[in-house]
Amino acid sequence: MSGFKAGLEDIVALRSEICFIDGQRRRLVYRGYDIGEFIGKATFEEVVYLLWHGQLPNRAQLTAFRQQVAAAQELPREVTDLLRACPKESEPMAVLRTAVSALGVLDPEASSPDREANLRKAIRLLARIPMIIASFARLREGKEPLAPRAGLGLAANFLYMLRDKEPDELEWSIFDAALILHADHELNASTFTARVTASTLADLYSAITAAIGALKGPLHGGANEQVMRTLMEIGDPSRVEPWLTQALENKQRIMGFGHRVYKTGDPRADFLRQFSQKLGEARGETRWFEMSRRLEELMYERKGLYPNVDFYSASTYYMLGIPVDLFTPVFAFSRVSGWSAHVLEQLADNRLIRPRAEYVGPSELTFRPLDERD
Ligand code: CMC
Repeated sequence: MSGFKAGLEDIVALRSEICFIDGQRRRLVYRGYDIGEFIGKATFEEVVYLLWHGQLPNRAQLTAFRQQVAAAQELPREVTDLLRACPKESEPMAVLRTAVSALGVLDPEASSPDREANLRKAIRLLARIPMIIASFARLREGKEPLAPRAGLGLAANFLYMLRDKEPDELEWSIFDAALILHADHELNASTFTARVTASTLADLYSAITAAIGALKGPLHGGANEQVMRTLMEIGDPSRVEPWLTQALENKQRIMGFGHRVYKTGDPRADFLRQFSQKLGEARGETRWFEMSRRLEELMYERKGLYPNVDFYSASTYYMLGIPVDLFTPVFAFSRVSGWSAHVLEQLADNRLIRPRAEYVGPSELTFRPLDERD
């Protein structure tokens, strides 16, 4: 028995109706719709509904869905107290992971396994994850969390609660579209983690908590923060080339480039590139975009690598006034929609996910009792 592939590359682990990636043709499709269809035409909430229910909502369904999300936003007092208790310098992804786990402890429906209960819990998670991120961001600055504003959707509310200023039309539309672009991505590491956890019949909170842990790493969602730190370290478009030469000489991995599945470019990066440029121009601060463009050109010339979703989302989020260490939590805010869709799908036709390992360790060793060992 072998068939071993490092990192499970190209291994088909399950069948899914949620998301299709064509890595050669630079395409990403949610439930049959190319992602380009949504940009400028649909809101994040419509896409979440699509991922969970398999079809786009009509107006009445969307209104009801938005009301359910709004009604679920308030955090249990115990969770806000927990956020208060977290040291100010805590990593926001660690805080989010802890707070989501706490939401499960406090939810009387936490272990109800039926689809309707899981949909209600998914709505709570979708509504509360941005509350957790924005509340912690204010608490660590010694400010009280802001309550969400009635009538604002998830994207606008998050920017409002974080910055104490409602977004303008450009900011809102770009952030909402960025959430759409991050919503699902087939069997990426965190989604696979969520499905493996759900396949044991553990509850939705356990699956989402595990997924947040997987997203945190710099090879996955953590890359967007590292991209911004890279741009800050470079500091100026004229310094991109010498910086990259040195970094590649040092065999450094350049964050925000490369992808396991996309080999001709990531279609999400094409939209985010435009967003980064538009926001930069609107602010009269094009430095981050210019540096990013130069790095993109040079990485293609020297390594043949394209930017992935994390590359231009970094300068986009930065121009929206989001603190750098919240970039990965923002990824989780969007991706909880995809994680939940995959958990629902997993449970609808569950089989325990339990692959094998090829054993390459020693064999036939002779046991020596404790006192006889050197
Ligand atoms: N910088 C420099 N070299 C790279 C990079 C990079 N970002 N990505 C891949 N390579 C090289 C790598 O060194 C290797 O070269 P060689 O064959 O000479 O050793 C070759 O390309 C193949 O790399 P790999 O690590 O085997 O590829 P993988 O499919 O295992 O990894 C990846 C995919 C995304 C982990 C990797 O490209 C990477 O580390 N990128 C930087 C981190 C990043 O941006 N992650 C976000 C991924 S997309 C969104 C998400 O999931 O959150």
